[in-house]
Amino acid sequence: MAGGDNKSIWIIANWKSNKTIAEALDWVSKVGPHIPKVDNLKVVVCSTFSCLSEVRKAIQVGSFPLMVGAQDLSPFAAGAYTGEEAAQYLKEFVDLAIIGHSERRYNFGETDQMVSKKVTQAVESGITPLVCVQSEQTPIPSSCSLIAYEPVSAISTGLSNTPGVGRADNPESADSIANHFKEKYQKTLEVIYGGSVDSQNVRGFISKESIDGVLVGNASLDPEEFIKIMNVCEGL
Ligand code: PGA
Repeated sequence: MAGGDNKSIWIIANWKSNKTIAEALDWVSKVGPHIPKVDNLKVVVCSTFSCLSEVRKAIQVGSFPLMVGAQDLSPFAAGAYTGEEAAQYLKEFVDLAIIGHSERRYNFGETDQMVSKKVTQAVESGITPLVCVQSEQTPIPSSCSLIAYEPVSAISTGLSNTPGVGRADNPESADSIANHFKEKYQKTLEVIYGGSVDSQNVRGFISKESIDGVLVGNASLDPEEFIKIMNVCEGL
């Protein structure tokens, strides 16, 4: 069973800006039946906004133990904010939202203040915020109980979106940073690791004491590879 001490293990797919609705549904139909039915494994797929509704429906029809996440949300409540997705409406589709991903911070100028506002909106709407932190210095809003440590240098596509730029952090250093966050904020804070995670290296991260799961970008796009990642986690 995943996590011998019964801690929860998060496996979160971040598709980024990829997949048509047909591709998204194909992924759900392939991955859904292979999700291990163990209580402490929490599997989430974060699709684009345009796929959320169909992905949600397909999961319900298949009765798959798969949660749905957004990759961002509005820092404001509903109103005159053209182009934004307010948490209160997103709640119809998602359980969780990624907030403060480095690609949003660097490409769209997202600041710690905006991250904090987004976390407030998520929490008020009953969406679990997953705040991405890039270093030990990144502040974490107090209402956060789940963060992803993702050093920018480890993200597979790099910020220039050039495949192959990133190199996964080593599990020992990621574990020590996860532990640092738990000591600094709260022992119950869950810390997952992200950055070039795949089926070959996931075991090293998941087996570390302070790491509570993984955020998987590029390797989550291929259903077969994602199934392999889940199988490794189930076997631990
Ligand atoms: P990667 O992306 O797994 O492709 O490195 C992770 C992320 O950016 O969340």
